[in-house]
Amino acid sequence: MPDEKSKAILNDIGTEELAHLEMVGSIVHQLTDGVSAEELEKVGLGAYYTDHGVDVYPSAASGVPFTASYIACKGDPIANLQEDLAAEQKARATYEKLINLCYDDPDVLDPLRFLRQREVIHFQRFGEALNSVQEKLAQKRFYQTNNSCMQNNNNNNNNSNHNNCCSN
Ligand SMILES: [Fe+2]
Repeated sequence: MPDEKSKAILNDIGTEELAHLEMVGSIVHQLTDGVSAEELEKVGLGAYYTDHGVDVYPSAASGVPFTASYIACKGDPIANLQEDLAAEQKARATYEKLINLCYDDPDVLDPLRFLRQREVIHFQRFGEALNSVQEKLAQKRFYQTNNSCMQNNNNNNNNSNHNNCCSN
């Protein structure tokens, strides 16, 4: 990342996202702890129970396990930040769908609403980082050179008796 502000934003959001993972894992654990296999099967979690019991297993709602392929990094700060912005919107949309599904459970709704709001804030912060990086990359660069030194260097190429002011 080409500027310090953007590095700090990435560090802050990355740290917070790990805490969100812990919150979501805790919600899932609390919802399934002590639930019988029969009850899990009735609500469509028979396959999950077969593979994972009631352990928290990181996967999509459709059952696709989390993999590194979900992490989009291209080696380009503009492309990476655009991916981050899209990821925040997808997270917001996912939380909104979860909120729709959990309408009757305030103990789940409140943390989901909090997490949704944080994704909106992350989107804003990534937007700030993108602006900052674009400004940094668009800056004109000024270089200072000692023209007399360059003249001597050019002369040195043709005449080895001249002093080279740039050599050590
Ligand atoms: Fe986020």
